[in-house]
Amino acid sequence: MMITIIGSLNIDLMVYTKYFPGSGETITSQHYVDLPGGKGANQAVTIGRLGGQVEMIGAVGKDLYGQRLLNNLKANGIGTSGIKECSGANTGLAFINVDETGSNKIILIPGANHLLVPTDIDQNMHLIDQSHFILLQLEIPLATVHYALREAYKRRKKTILNPAPACKLSPEILQYVDILTPNELELALLTNLPVDSLDAMSVAAKTLIQQGVKVVIVTLGDKGVLVVASDKVSHIPAYPVKVVDTTAAGDAFTGALVLALSQGDILQDAVHFANKVASIVVQRPGTQISLPTLNEIK
Ligand code: RIB
Ligand code: NA
Repeated sequence: MMITIIGSLNIDLMVYTKYFPGSGETITSQHYVDLPGGKGANQAVTIGRLGGQVEMIGAVGKDLYGQRLLNNLKANGIGTSGIKECSGANTGLAFINVDETGSNKIILIPGANHLLVPTDIDQNMHLIDQSHFILLQLEIPLATVHYALREAYKRRKKTILNPAPACKLSPEILQYVDILTPNELELALLTNLPVDSLDAMSVAAKTLIQQGVKVVIVTLGDKGVLVVASDKVSHIPAYPVKVVDTTAAGDAFTGALVLALSQGDILQDAVHFANKVASIVVQRPGTQISLPTLNEIK
């Protein structure tokens, strides 16, 4: 079953340091690298590497970084006909600092990603029509996310929204979301409720379900995943692994989840599979470069 991803493509400028510098502080790093990234593209490459059929709708600049991102998608078997090359903006950039514990801090310069407009969705409606699953994140304009979700929902597609980076979402948007995959911080911002325990998180998630979301899957890093549907809540622990770099782990989780669902897995099995994929990604440095193949999972 085909999956269409509507989202961002960035070049990640990654710098590894022992700790994050404080305000006014200068620190030194011995390790810098630029790599293909962007939440949308990371999710697409996750699915592509695991053998799924995936098309991407997005925007890059007419520049070398844009070419590099397109080439990397193609090399991973992803359809790129839905990606426009804009002359009005540069390819998106993400400045990523990773510390010794594998945590990150990211500053995003959206560039061409913010030129993806609802008419681009119209122009690529054939991709949505051919797909069963539509996956989005929030690094493109919210109006485009809203429009795409509404059109996908009207066409009875399964819609998955990874609400990252964190942003408040109206009930007009949430009503079109089948599966929402926030992390703890995103859940707190979406609901304005405490998220300091599993119970508190399931209360918060249920308020999103009241607004029309069918399933909320809260990703908790080393604490695993909380799955909240209208009738039941379950907590699935994470694999105990040695964390090197958590960047792109959330993207890998979401991509793998959607792939497994598109292959007919029930939700619990899909979450277990996605957990496995994410556990490999955190053990490797980098973003798209850290995403595993199906053989590696096996
Ligand atoms: O989720 C990780 C991603 O967030 C990075 O690849 C970066 O581009 C930002 O979009
Ligand atoms: Na990683």
